Amino acid sequence: MKTIDELIAEGVTGKRVFVRADLNVPLSGTTITDDGRIRAVQPTVEKLVAAGARVVVASHLGRPKGAPDPAFSLAPAAARLGELIGTDVAFATDTVGESARATVAALGDGEVAVIENLRFNPGETSKDDAERGAFADQLAELADLYVGDGFGAVHRKHASVFDLPARLPHAAGDLIATEVGVLKKLTENVERPYAVVLGGSKVSDKLGVIDHLLERADRILIGGGMAYTFLKAQGHEVGSSLLQEDQIPAVLEYLKRAEDKGVEFVLPVDVVVSAQFPDLEAKAPTEHRTVPADAIPAGFIGLDNGPETNTLYASKLADAATVFWNGPMGVFEHPDYAEGTRAVAQALVDSSGFSVVGGGDSAAAVRTLGFDENAFGHISTGGGASLEYLEGKTLPGLAALED
Ligand code: 3PG
Repeated sequence: MKTIDELIAEGVTGKRVFVRADLNVPLSGTTITDDGRIRAVQPTVEKLVAAGARVVVASHLGRPKGAPDPAFSLAPAAARLGELIGTDVAFATDTVGESARATVAALGDGEVAVIENLRFNPGETSKDDAERGAFADQLAELADLYVGDGFGAVHRKHASVFDLPARLPHAAGDLIATEVGVLKKLTENVERPYAVVLGGSKVSDKLGVIDHLLERADRILIGGGMAYTFLKAQGHEVGSSLLQEDQIPAVLEYLKRAEDKGVEFVLPVDVVVSAQFPDLEAKAPTEHRTVPADAIPAGFIGLDNGPETNTLYASKLADAATVFWNGPMGVFEHPDYAEGTRAVAQALVDSSGFSVVGGGDSAAAVRTLGFDENAFGHISTGGGASLEYLEGKTLPGLAALED
């Protein structure tokens, strides 16, 4: 993979450089609630600006349906990028149309533009190679060179991630280089004990990674909505908690394999429950209580790990030499259900091991809960991307930068 420094050394002054970033930030209306992904691509953009390139930044945001949708505009992200790098950032109101062409044509050396959400064009995510290729052809007309730096999207076989680099001389940006370097540490000669904390809502999203980790990790700690499918598989009632019945056979097989291999599989021993899912906007206090994980009353929803689980999980992380964490332990967006997630974050901060926080949600959680990012070994910008890397899959956006 060519580095951005090598690309710059070959000469980028006056050249139009397409930077595929991941500016898929959480928004409340038009307010960005966590700008971590924008800050993550800032060094790459600043390097290109300093080298006199004409920088065209592109990204997706959310999952619009292949047509313009103002709720998913990148305009707020473009404005925030401008604030961070301290210069005006032009904004094109389309992807490959008149606005994009005119905006890019107007760029001077060392200037930056952001084009509108790539997923406003159906060609970006199309499964049809020709349709994706046609969109990549149009994108290629906007640039002379390509820098891949949208780590969070490298697991997507999308036009701007996979097809465009085949059409332009390309290099990997600093963010991708850092992310891949860290993930290598988790896959090659990992320091032990290696503990993994997995949360989030769905077991089905984590099957591949659990499968892979059963061969590599020493301890797997489970939390979040997915924990209830494990508890149910163990024969416990889970009330109205999130449950993926169809995943129970897979979960049972994992529990058995873990036992056979001596991998410690740790499940919540107590949970915080409520009769209702909380209002995440109002964040008003809710009625809730802590119950043993094997005694969730009918009609109640498990929404967070309980205090005994928090102590247990902290003890399992205290002596780990390496920790990978993906997925919140509960509905951390509401203060009544944030303790489980906070406790895992605190355990990582307190541990002297190398800790990696992977994923949009868990990364946003540690920042939202007020933790200092520098207290962690690495906070990844990629959720699905880091999981798929750990599964050992070939990621289209990395493969495209290889050759
Ligand atoms: C993410 O949030 O994980 C990345 O931005 C990819 O988004 P996607 O899952 O909508 O492709």
